[in-house]
Amino acid sequence: MQLTSAIKEINPEAVGETAPSAQSEAKPVIEIDHLHKVYKTGDVEVHALRGVSLTIRQGEFVAIMGTSGSGKSTMMNIIGCLDRPTRGKYILDGHDVSAYSKDERADIRNHKIGFVFQGFNLLSRTSALENVELPMLYANVPTEERHKRAYEALTAVGLAGREHNHPNQLSGGQQQRVAIARSLVNQPTIILADEPTGNLDTRTSIEVMEIFQRLNREKGITIVLVTHEQDIAEYTGRVVVFRDGKIRRDYKIDEPRDAGEELKQLPPPSDDDDEEE
Ligand SMILES: Nc1ncnc2c1ncn2[C@@H]1O[C@H](COP(=O)(O)OP(=O)(O)OP(=O)(O)O)[C@@H](O)[C@H]1O
Ligand SMILES: [Mg+2]
Repeated sequence: MQLTSAIKEINPEAVGETAPSAQSEAKPVIEIDHLHKVYKTGDVEVHALRGVSLTIRQGEFVAIMGTSGSGKSTMMNIIGCLDRPTRGKYILDGHDVSAYSKDERADIRNHKIGFVFQGFNLLSRTSALENVELPMLYANVPTEERHKRAYEALTAVGLAGREHNHPNQLSGGQQQRVAIARSLVNQPTIILADEPTGNLDTRTSIEVMEIFQRLNREKGITIVLVTHEQDIAEYTGRVVVFRDGKIRRDYKIDEPRDAGEELKQLPPPSDDDDEEE
């Protein structure tokens, strides 16, 4: 064990760890090939995705951008196994989920994916702790382990001490952090976030991006995030732009903004910003 960590210090690749520079060699966790999605409502057909191919590797942090109606949420729903493509192939962490039944999709979703939606989707009459425990109920995690993991996740997002507050007793940023904690508890391979900063002010948005950057860098969680804001996309490592159901641009961000550093430069929040009751 000690020898392994010694070798790691000298050469991370020697013990099979992926160095950041070798990210292009990391294994694909999302492989999408010529995907189509057609929504049918009565006689009306909407061709929401028109032949999308995309590979995302382990440890990437990707922003999905594009105008309203361009297919971003449709893409996220398919990546998250909430919906299935009309045509095309989707391989999630080595599993061909395009052929999966509804139950099989629910199962892989519970084990591999954490969701953070705009508007938080928290249960309002339920404490932060219970909200965070919810995905573990579906996954049949025993009570004690559930509490333990929920406390840990809330602590990781800076909400220790607020476990028993209901969502309406928390600020928007704090509610979003509860949603992030909830997305973490089943130890997902991937976090999917659809406009996670959509309702938040600048400072709170940076705080949320700081948490995502930390989870990505320190835990190696792959993150795919939809945003309308270029500023927010600049905290990620890659931007994929949709238009009319197709990918129009796909580019790397060589020097992402560092949310942690930026927060240090901002004036401290005023007293009542963070402690609304
Ligand atoms: N359940 C549905 N039934 C029918 N049409 C749908 C459905 N969901 C989405 N659409 C249509 O598919 C297209 C893509 O929608 P989608 O929600 O993916 O866009 P988006 O890029 O997420 O937009 P926004 O930025 O506004 O969230 C749109 O024309 C939309 O009206
Ligand atoms: Mg959308």
